[in-house]
Amino acid sequence: MEEKGISQAVIGRLPRYFRYLGELKDEGVERVSSQELSGLMHVTASQIRQDFNNFGGFGQQGYGYNVEFLYEEIGKILGLNKTHHLIIIGAGNLGQALGNYMNFERRGFILKGMFDKNPALYGKKVREIEVQPMEKVEEFVRENDIDIAVLTIPKSSAVGVAEVLVANGIKAFWNFAHVDLNVPEGIQVENVHLSDSLMKLSYNLERYNQEQEKG
Ligand code: NAI
Repeated sequence: MEEKGISQAVIGRLPRYFRYLGELKDEGVERVSSQELSGLMHVTASQIRQDFNNFGGFGQQGYGYNVEFLYEEIGKILGLNKTHHLIIIGAGNLGQALGNYMNFERRGFILKGMFDKNPALYGKKVREIEVQPMEKVEEFVRENDIDIAVLTIPKSSAVGVAEVLVANGIKAFWNFAHVDLNVPEGIQVENVHLSDSLMKLSYNLERYNQEQEKG
C-alpha cells in the first residue's frame, strides 16, 4: 500500500475514521458506504473517498467498504497493530489522570511505569503502577523496551528530561509540557495543548454569535 507523501491533514483525520469504524464493527455492521459514513461523521462523502484513495481506495465501487477490513487497515497505517510501551514522567494531576485512563490500552498503548521527582509520591499507586523516583528512569527505559514517554511535567524541566530519555532509547514523546522539545531527527513528538482546542472553541463561539447578531 502506497503511503508516501500523505498530508498531515489526512493523517489527522484517520483516528476519527478509526473510532467510527470501530463503533460500527462493535455494532456488527459489515459494510458501509462513503455516504453513510459521511452522514455519521459530518464529513463530505467526497472527502472520505479522497482520503481513502491516498491508501489505494479500500473499497469496491458501488459496494461500500468492508468495515472490519477498513478498520484493520487504518489501524495498521496508524501503527495500532503493534504494542507500544509507555511511561509517564510527572505523576501530578495530569499524569495521574492519564495513568488512570485505561482506554488507551485497548489500542495497544501499555503503561509500564510512572516517574516523579517528588518523594511524597514515591510508591503511590495509579492503577497497578507505582510511582518511582526519577533516578530509576534511565535503567527502567533501557530494560523494559519503552518506546513512548508521556511528559506531564513543567516546561522548565521538559527539555532536559527529554534529552536523558532519548539517550536511553525513547523514540517518541506525547508532550503536554508547554515547550518545544529539542530532540534529534527521527524522534517523534506529538504536542498536546488542550488550551489550543479551547481557543478554537472560543473562536467558533465568537464567530457564531457575531453571525447571529448580524441576522
Ligand atoms: P502538577 O504540578 O500537578 O504535576 C506536575 C508533576 O511533575 C509534579 O508531581 C512534580 O513533582 C513533577 N515534576 C516536576 N519536575 C519534574 C522532573 N524534572 N522530573 C519528574 N517529575 C517532575 O501539574 P499538572 O497539573 O499535572 O500539569 C503538569 C504539566 O502539564 C504542567 O506543566 C502544565 O502546565 C501542563 N499542562 C498541560 C496541558 C496541556 O494541554 N498541554 C494541560 C494541563 C497541564
